[in-house]
Amino acid sequence: MQKIDGHTRLCGLIGNPVEHTMSPVIHNTLAAMEGRNLVYVPFHVGTGQARKAVEGAYALNVLGLNVTVPYKEEVIAYLKETDAMAKQIGAVNTLVRTQGGYKGYNTDMMGLYRAMCAEGIKLEGEEVIILGAGGAARAVAFLCAWKKAARIYLLNRTLEKAKRIAEEVNGMAGRGAAAGNGAGKVEPMPLEDYREIPSDRKYLAIQATSVGLYPKTKEAPIEDKEFYQKIHTGFDLIYRPSQTRFMSLVRGQGGRAFHGLKMLLYQGIIAYELWNGTEIPQEDALEVYETMKTEMGIEE
Ligand code: ATR
Repeated sequence: MQKIDGHTRLCGLIGNPVEHTMSPVIHNTLAAMEGRNLVYVPFHVGTGQARKAVEGAYALNVLGLNVTVPYKEEVIAYLKETDAMAKQIGAVNTLVRTQGGYKGYNTDMMGLYRAMCAEGIKLEGEEVIILGAGGAARAVAFLCAWKKAARIYLLNRTLEKAKRIAEEVNGMAGRGAAAGNGAGKVEPMPLEDYREIPSDRKYLAIQATSVGLYPKTKEAPIEDKEFYQKIHTGFDLIYRPSQTRFMSLVRGQGGRAFHGLKMLLYQGIIAYELWNGTEIPQEDALEVYETMKTEMGIEE
């Protein structure tokens, strides 16, 4: 346990609920490993209190905050500045103290990218299927476009939401030419139309719906084996449970499958790096990952 004294810096998480968060494990482990005088605490922020929470934290000289549901969009209005990528996504999960206010970042996306790199998954030139069109899927779609995926199929139960994301991503500044010839284009589709995705090649599938999340662990957004035959790699953003039905279905057809715990790890690592102006070596990141797995009681 960190000794708390007059020099201790404070970071924290604001959200509602925050009671099941793994973030204190990430940041307090990192601080202990580095011998940094920093503690990380979750703050349950009630409805209508987000502005006061951000302003109050700044007044209290809080070094940095993570932001979770339901405040990732709302807090942008209370910041001094927002990073370009986070602005485009329209959501921030990390606030970094700067002169005169906090600057907002979205380390969820950068975290997903680092997690994929760590597993040897590439996006550039890749044909990708994204399941879902909520907040998480929206950010994934932007990431795939930024990282120049060759094609992005965006499947959602509610087609309208997929269409809206496709319009935004395809209309992104500087993407005119690429999107014009079909390369890197987001194609919105109803979830049940997955058979229309060409089966002459294999895809990276990113599971960004809330289906399969604890306690409804027996569910997957698509059950049909035919769909999973098209998948060479499945990445589920869910990490509770650590073995989702989606992952089992991917593996059942010979694909590789990953859960979202490494994304959670790296979004935390990147936030910590931003707050402290430091760089965490890969072996330290993996040591934190082991602590997270122990905490969650998982082996894989
Ligand atoms: P998040 O912020 O985690 O992305 P969200 O914005 O509530 O959460 O999005 C949840 C996603 O899971 C949506 O894509 C949702 O589909 P709809 O847009 O049609 O609601 C998807 N989802 C939730 N329950 C689902 C179900 N039973 N079958 C298929 N998709 C489901």
